[in-house]
Amino acid sequence: VRLDDPDLVRREYADEGRFAVRRAAWDGADGPDPRDVAVAALAEVTPRSVLEVGCGTGELAERIQHELGAHVIALDLSARMVELSRARGIDACCGDAQRLPFPDESFDCALAAWMLYHVPDRERALSELARVVRPGGRLVAVTNGEASLGELWRLLGDAAVRRHPFSRENGAPQLRRHFERVERRDVAGTITFPDHAAARTYVAASVTRSRLADRLPAFEGPLRAIRTAAVFVADRAA
Ligand SMILES: C[S@@+](CC[C@H](N)C(=O)[O-])C[C@H]1O[C@@H](n2cnc3c(N)ncnc32)[C@H](O)[C@@H]1O
Repeated sequence: VRLDDPDLVRREYADEGRFAVRRAAWDGADGPDPRDVAVAALAEVTPRSVLEVGCGTGELAERIQHELGAHVIALDLSARMVELSRARGIDACCGDAQRLPFPDESFDCALAAWMLYHVPDRERALSELARVVRPGGRLVAVTNGEASLGELWRLLGDAAVRRHPFSRENGAPQLRRHFERVERRDVAGTITFPDHAAARTYVAASVTRSRLADRLPAFEGPLRAIRTAAVFVADRAA
């Protein structure tokens, strides 16, 4: 199962059901929240206009619009995600990060949160993002670490780190080909699954390991798993 398989991505986000299950687990995590770190990275440059690609349900777009007072345009491949974002009052449209329907230098900042690993041609998407951000502008890109939630995957006997399209470990060199300055801000926290049923529900909703849910061996009590993420801050030359 490849994270950047277009058929998988289309099926996965045709509706918000499985994504909502995963997000509920992240919402309960202890420690700093990578979403807060991403919003703070945008706030540092007080953008007036922000493009969010792969906006999902529009939660982050809404925060940026309200907390930073920026005009946000959100884009997603999934018609359902666009509909959900619009319901939050976000100016959202259907589109592909590999072919952005905007003129050069249209935005102060762009955000790509947990989505670049779903894009088959990331070189193309990153060059598109660099094109639509103004000189001196900023891209904030969020992703997970390759060993994130390893405690859970080890129980399934599937903890081997696979080739990851865009991870905490390999994101920076990809970004450096398109942006002048790239900084990685690591964020780690703990997700506690209260019991076996909760852990199994998460596995069943995972993008690449859902078929393994029935393999989760019985265990007593809660399961703690370390979640690692990175917020990349990539600035265009002024
Ligand atoms: C894991 S969700 C992340 C949603 C949101 N950024 C967040 O952090 O809550 C990934 C989203 O990216 C979208 N997506 C995947 N590939 C895309 C592409 N090439 N262009 C635009 N959106 C894409 C999916 O449809 C999905 O809504």
